[in-house]
Amino acid sequence: MSDPKKVAVLVGSLRKESFSLKLAKIAAAEAPTSLSFQFLDFSKLPFFTQDLEPTPPAEWTTFREEVKAADAVLFVTPEYNRSVPGALKNAIDVGSRPYGQSVFNGKPAAVISTSIGGVGGFGSNHHLRQSLAFLNMPTMGQPEAYIGGSGGLFDASGNLINEGTLEFLKNFGTAFATWIGKHSA
Ligand code: FNR
Repeated sequence: MSDPKKVAVLVGSLRKESFSLKLAKIAAAEAPTSLSFQFLDFSKLPFFTQDLEPTPPAEWTTFREEVKAADAVLFVTPEYNRSVPGALKNAIDVGSRPYGQSVFNGKPAAVISTSIGGVGGFGSNHHLRQSLAFLNMPTMGQPEAYIGGSGGLFDASGNLINEGTLEFLKNFGTAFATWIGKHSA
């Protein structure tokens, strides 16, 4: 059997009790064993500015190497003001530069958006897809994942109590494994 494909997970919320993080952990746990997941911490990345590029901050270099080492990227993100949270956008910008050396280039991707509201982060999901298109990341189209009502999906201990969401995440992981198989370099 071949080694598992490495999936870097970027969670758009930095909140300790983040529903997005909880969903991302469940998605990783329920995915086929042909995938292995590494959750990347981008919370300490200095804001991107080209002025720092000649001697990039160590945090940028580490993050770029971590993404480079991955075969694919899974984005799990809430919606902030109908768009992508700033910390996640900053991580994308850091990984995308220097020009011509984007660590995201060509890596298959999938997007799960979440919201406490009913629309499931549709706005952030599709704003993110706009960046991923530019970054030349083949991004899985189906199944789409807009997980609404995230505040009601967990019990007090943080366990997922919605069977439908669990089943959905399992199927999503299976589809992503197939997608990665087709699109990884
Ligand atoms: C939100 N929230 C939110 N929800 C939504 O459906 N659409 C939106 O545009 C926004 N905008 C927004 C902006 C900011 C700054 C915050 C802090 C929150 C609510 C959001 O869905 C909720 O806080 C989630 O719980 C955030 O995800 P995590 O942290 O639980 O993963």
